[in-house]
Amino acid sequence: MDQHADRLRLKAFLYLLSLFCSSCEGVELGPDRCTVWGSGLDPNVVLPVRYFYIQAADEAGQNLTYSPGKDSFQVRITALAPGKHVRIHVPRPLDRGDGSFLMLYRLYESATSGLKVEVQHRDRPVGRSPYILPGPVYHEYCDCPKANGAAWQSAMTCPSYEPQILKDFSSFPSIDLQRLLQEVPRRFSQRGGLIHYTVLNNQVYRRSLGRYTDFKMFSDEILLSLARKVQLPDVEFYINVGDWPLETRKAGDLPGPVPILSWCGSTDTRDIVLPTYDITHSMLETLRGVSNDLLSVQGNTGPSWANKTDKAFFRGRDSREERLQLVALSRKYPELLDAGITAFFFFREREKDMGKASLVGFFHFFQFKYQVNVDGTVAAYRFPYLMLGDSLVLKQDSPYYEHFYSHLRPGTHYLPVLRNLSDLIEKIRWAKENDFEAQVIAKNGQILSRELLQPNRLYCYYYSVLQIYAQRQHGRPTVHPDMDPVPQPSDHSADCECQQETASQEKDEL
Ligand SMILES: *[C@@H]1O[C@H](CO)[C@@H](O)[C@H](O)[C@H]1NC(C)=O
Ligand SMILES: *[C@@H]1O[C@H](CO)[C@@H](O)[C@H](O)[C@H]1NC(C)=O
Ligand SMILES: *[C@@H]1O[C@H](CO)[C@@H](O)[C@H](O)[C@H]1NC(C)=O
Repeated sequence: MDQHADRLRLKAFLYLLSLFCSSCEGVELGPDRCTVWGSGLDPNVVLPVRYFYIQAADEAGQNLTYSPGKDSFQVRITALAPGKHVRIHVPRPLDRGDGSFLMLYRLYESATSGLKVEVQHRDRPVGRSPYILPGPVYHEYCDCPKANGAAWQSAMTCPSYEPQILKDFSSFPSIDLQRLLQEVPRRFSQRGGLIHYTVLNNQVYRRSLGRYTDFKMFSDEILLSLARKVQLPDVEFYINVGDWPLETRKAGDLPGPVPILSWCGSTDTRDIVLPTYDITHSMLETLRGVSNDLLSVQGNTGPSWANKTDKAFFRGRDSREERLQLVALSRKYPELLDAGITAFFFFREREKDMGKASLVGFFHFFQFKYQVNVDGTVAAYRFPYLMLGDSLVLKQDSPYYEHFYSHLRPGTHYLPVLRNLSDLIEKIRWAKENDFEAQVIAKNGQILSRELLQPNRLYCYYYSVLQIYAQRQHGRPTVHPDMDPVPQPSDHSADCECQQETASQEKDEL
């Protein structure tokens, strides 16, 4: 606790400094004093969208904690071989408003010869620009899995362990595939959507159990993406593509619980959680058809804290009673809370009296200092995006959780609110009266979420779940007669001869 408090004070102090300087217009950047870093400068880290960071610094080498202007840096990315053209999408760096920028780029083909990344400030090189990525630099659709999983994890800077994964697997010291085959379809296939997967020799096979299985497109796409990057263990498992976690048996029960992989966990079930389909899909589709994802949101967090409206904000569907309560509270305390329901489905009869609020884009949320996060059917999947903004999140207590919640501390990274919302108004008042502390909590939550919700961490998480599962399984993963292969997308337009080590070469090296 003391450590937490110390860290809070340090952050607070840094913040005081930054506030002093938020009016230092026209500071001269010291291009060579700026820092450029991140996995997007490492050819071994293959991600759908690669990314790196730029930290602005002044001529004295002091890092800026406010934006030096959104057009401060220009980035050019080209093929290393002269005269060679690579199809590559290079948007402008995203201004995170705190002196740092996030640079995303997406390769549409592989750069066999390598890439040159130039970062400039008014025609002067920034950091140690140019950065050279020796070839081959693969794009997302290259099917060139690394044979050595540990080397891949190390390149991806995967954490050595994830507390949630350890906790989830503590109910499953051993996994009997034969038993699952008999029990899982019988118990759960009527409950919505369940997909039975087998991965054999890095090829994905599956069959669908249940009626609502369309969301298998989301589990398919991440499994295929992962299999293109790293050799997966042979493994047979079940992914629940419905909303609710399924396994209500507890560790000591007889018969015991079975391991079901789900996108949402709850305190009264034993499902093994995966990152939600929402953040996973939007990560895969970043810079290509999704409007909001874990990276883009970081450059769209609205006005600086001081210029945000000091009210709590909520817009969403009517998927839970408490969301309607928010609207009632907002009528009673319009100076504290702006809440509206944008679509009625579960409580249609209430629409007449309550009125429907018009839809607003997600980034508009960050016009407001405080964000209310109330569960939907299960956990509200907007929570990770809200945490990446620079508003204070007021989170309803909930039995539901996503894969990264166990890292967050209520009161340090967000403000907790009782499930029945009876203390919400009091909490908003507290935040208004303690603006500085509120800002510090918002900042702490943002800093930690930026770390936890990086795309490479999502891949690490999926891989680690499959790996631990495979270690504990007994019996041979089998391609059952009613399973279909899930093919890798064909990518004729792109040249991607795999030049990385094959399994046998790597063995020789070891
Ligand atoms: C500036 O920020 C970069 C990136 O976070 C960091 O590596 C560096 O140590 C910082 N420099 C100073 C002087 O604080
Ligand atoms: C707040 O907005 C005003 C008007 O756009 C701007 O001049 C000012 O610099 C902003 N303040 C901060 C702290 O960003
Ligand atoms: C709300 O929940 C709290 C804690 O569970 C309880 O003490 C309180 O009486 C509840 N308030 C209402 C209005 O139901």
